[in-house]
Amino acid sequence: MEYSPDGRSRAGQPAARRDRIERMVTRILFVCLGNICRSPAAEGVFRHLAEEAGLGHVFVVDSAGTSGWHIGEPADARMREAAAMRGIRLTSRARQVSQDDFDEYDWIFAMDATNLRHLRRQAPSDYHHKIRLFREFDPEEPGADVPDPYYGGPEGFVEVLDIVTRTSRELLAFLTSDRHTGTHDPA
Ligand code: 4NP
Repeated sequence: MEYSPDGRSRAGQPAARRDRIERMVTRILFVCLGNICRSPAAEGVFRHLAEEAGLGHVFVVDSAGTSGWHIGEPADARMREAAAMRGIRLTSRARQVSQDDFDEYDWIFAMDATNLRHLRRQAPSDYHHKIRLFREFDPEEPGADVPDPYYGGPEGFVEVLDIVTRTSRELLAFLTSDRHTGTHDPA
């Protein structure tokens, strides 16, 4: 972007104002393997909690998979049903993580240690500081994986929602704390 001497961008908007507006939004991406169970749940729950707190406008929230196995599919019906029981609609369509995501998102949260490893392998090293394990923020069992519910029974989907809800609450508090509000630099 080029600026004229009066500080306006070529688009005509004062540069400082545009920068302020851009910095107010924090972009976060949740990542699991298939992008049909755990990360869509995290996306839906985090967005719901942010909206409930009147902070919906502060976050851009999305999810993706390290695999491309389910591209274009809605979240698993069992996951959608468990979320609907708590008044949360999951609206995502599965997609695979792209190289652009590392640039476009301020924070990328892996649902388990395998996802984390894949993301760190895929991302250029100057983006590694953005990539974190989601359950670092779990107040009950920090550092654990979100268990993959895909091959199990319905109780696994309820467990995922419990984990994702308490962890998202902590994450929201962290991301809206003084240190992190309005920053693009998670380091
Ligand atoms: P997710 O769960 O990573 O939480 O979306 C899975 C979905 C699909 C498969 C594995 C895990 N799968 O093997 O197709």
